[in-house]
Amino acid sequence: MKKVDIITTTYEYDSIEEFNEVEKRLINKSKEAVKNAYAPYSKFNVGAAVLLANGEIISGTNQENAAYPSGLCAERVAIFYANSKFPEIPVKAIAVTAFTNNKFIETPIPPCGSCRQVIVETQTRFKTPIKIYLVSKNKITVIEDAKTLLPINFDEHFLT
Ligand code: THU
Repeated sequence: MKKVDIITTTYEYDSIEEFNEVEKRLINKSKEAVKNAYAPYSKFNVGAAVLLANGEIISGTNQENAAYPSGLCAERVAIFYANSKFPEIPVKAIAVTAFTNNKFIETPIPPCGSCRQVIVETQTRFKTPIKIYLVSKNKITVIEDAKTLLPINFDEHFLT
């Protein structure tokens, strides 16, 4: 028997001022996006912003549906749109935040399991790690490699 430990490292920031200009723009784009969320059922408005290797920033929001499972999270809306519009350009980073009860969330929200699967697929596809910024009112958590949020993941290698 061999014991294997898997470590996830996160970096916690108390201010947006600790980031460079590109990162600040990405974080702010995720915050601007929340106003475009379609979340009449949960009233939990999520904004995501994806930074591409060509400097382009694509944002997306959660899209809910009266048939609840038909809705989609902001992260996947943003990534799928980015990959549809720029299929050759690697995704470098994604910032996510949420606005509910008339304010930005106090604690950063982590992406759901399905979004993690999609983020990891995207970084496998472009062979470059995706940095994740989880943004709340006063705190930002950074994960430098999306795969650490979904270790032992299913990917293309199992299909061959
Ligand atoms: N949601 C996201 O868009 N991203 C997340 O990371 C967590 C949850 C959405 C799904 C649903 O529209 C609402 O937030 C409440 O779960």
